[in-house]
Amino acid sequence: MARKFFVGGNWKCNGTIDDVKKIVTMLNESEVPSEDIVEVVVSPPFVFLPLVKALLRSDFAIAAQNCWVRRGGAFTGEISAEMLVNLGIPWVILGHSERRSLLGESNDITHWTNIVLAYEPVWAIGTGKVATPAQAQEVHVGLRKWLSEYVSSEVASSTRIIYGGSVNAANCKELAAQPDVDGFLVGGASLKPEFVDIIKSAA
Ligand code: G3P
Repeated sequence: MARKFFVGGNWKCNGTIDDVKKIVTMLNESEVPSEDIVEVVVSPPFVFLPLVKALLRSDFAIAAQNCWVRRGGAFTGEISAEMLVNLGIPWVILGHSERRSLLGESNDITHWTNIVLAYEPVWAIGTGKVATPAQAQEVHVGLRKWLSEYVSSEVASSTRIIYGGSVNAANCKELAAQPDVDGFLVGGASLKPEFVDIIKSAA
């Protein structure tokens, strides 16, 4: 089954209004493969979601970096999935290893439809040490096997499994060439012009 290449930019806890405007301008002016070839999603901090939503080109989507899994109510400081939908934000990053290690989050996911799975070796996050294409491919194949065994073969073949951890313009092409690497979740480089080169590795 053909899986569309997916490139996510996780801006993490970075930026000011001016920085955000600069990144969005850079993205809006970029020439990248069409939506048929690559799905691009950027994930700013919560406070910048409305600004990015207002300014970003419409062929790029936006993700939140987390959300409250229950309905809204008396949960001070939380943002519900319904609020994100109401704002026109169709994606959310859930269970990032930084949230697991720093905030004690666990694996509480039940729906596989509409999920893009990211493999991020913790030793590669923000370190400049990237997995080799062969290492990434091996783990992605293992994840697909797990999905096939514990979920279904259909989910295993249709779920996009993307790699994250020190992806940059220099290493993205070789990684993207692996048959089970369906895209990237990019941290540091998503704040820089090289993010556009990473998007282009889809084609
Ligand atoms: O979510 C993406 C991330 O954890 C990888 O970060 O800075 O190594 O690309 P970075």
